[in-house]
Amino acid sequence: MVRAQQSQIEAAVEALRAGDLVAFPTETVYGLGANAADAMAVGKVFAAKGRPAEHPLIVHLDSARYLHRWVREMPAAAEALAARFWPGPLTLVLPKAKEVLGLVTGGQDTVAIRVPAHRVAQQLLTAFGGGLVAPSANRYGRLSPTRPEHVREELGDAVRIVLDGGECKLGVESTIVACLDGQVRLLRPGTVTLGQLRAVVGDVQSGAEEGAPRVPGSTISHYAPRTPLEIVPAEALETRVESLSVDGARLAVLAMRQPLTILGRVSWINAGRKPDAYAHDLYANLRTLDKVAGCTRILVQAVPATEAWDAVRDRLQKAAAAAVV
Ligand code: TXA
Ligand code: MG
Repeated sequence: MVRAQQSQIEAAVEALRAGDLVAFPTETVYGLGANAADAMAVGKVFAAKGRPAEHPLIVHLDSARYLHRWVREMPAAAEALAARFWPGPLTLVLPKAKEVLGLVTGGQDTVAIRVPAHRVAQQLLTAFGGGLVAPSANRYGRLSPTRPEHVREELGDAVRIVLDGGECKLGVESTIVACLDGQVRLLRPGTVTLGQLRAVVGDVQSGAEEGAPRVPGSTISHYAPRTPLEIVPAEALETRVESLSVDGARLAVLAMRQPLTILGRVSWINAGRKPDAYAHDLYANLRTLDKVAGCTRILVQAVPATEAWDAVRDRLQKAAAAAVV
């Protein structure tokens, strides 16, 4: 895995200490990092993303060793999940310690914590020595970046340094699990599946409920390309393309197979049938299709209803919902 030069890490730490923004790679997506203990710096994250202030951020740590500075109480289930999945693509929502800034938690009494596994993220966090808030490094509601050039495309000069860690290994955001009030609840599906969580802690609720912690990704207009996106069953792809191909409209398709007939004016990506490879390329593929000139719609072949596809299906459904609003 890619490792950053020590001089780059030092420059990044200096920027963070000065209250500036540093984008860095994680194994899921690129994060837009700021000192989690500096209200001005955290404010810059919201401004750069165009993100509403009540949407809470994830605090990234290099390990659980300073967890007590951020978390008031670590339930047994959370201990077990952290021991099994950290460092890795799992975020835990926990009761917050008093010192954690309200700006970080959206004014809630809980804080989201993640220990990323990427080498460069680890180098940066260890050298920085504190917690970094890091939402995905995209404009609010847009596709998450999985390559350094996506970050510049999204945020331009608002971010002082973009650490280059190449392509993100997983490609979809971390699994988010709330461990609160004696319950374990899946808030956002990711690479760590419901089955894997249940294997560690037994009972896991899924889906948000009344009064559950807020995950803005679970509302509207998220993970979305600019071109309207529509989910289509496998067998209907070709006919849908034909019915939308009026007046010279151009179409884009993200499929799990090749087209069955020759189609004109269509950009077709076959992303294959393997959930890991599909997820790895998901946002880059949608970015590519979003740039097809004159394209009126992105048609996405419905992915299987199995657990291995939960994270991908979730992001596609949110992108499709954004198009309808
Ligand atoms: O993989 C990831 O988690 C990436 C990388 C960069 O680490 N980060 C990421 O951050 O996806 P962001 O801001 O795009 O998504 C964070 C999600 C949001 O949906 C937010 O609502 C939720 O975490 N969240 C943060 N704090 C929370 C809290 N106290 N309660 C419930 N949800 C929370
Ligand atoms: Mg995001």
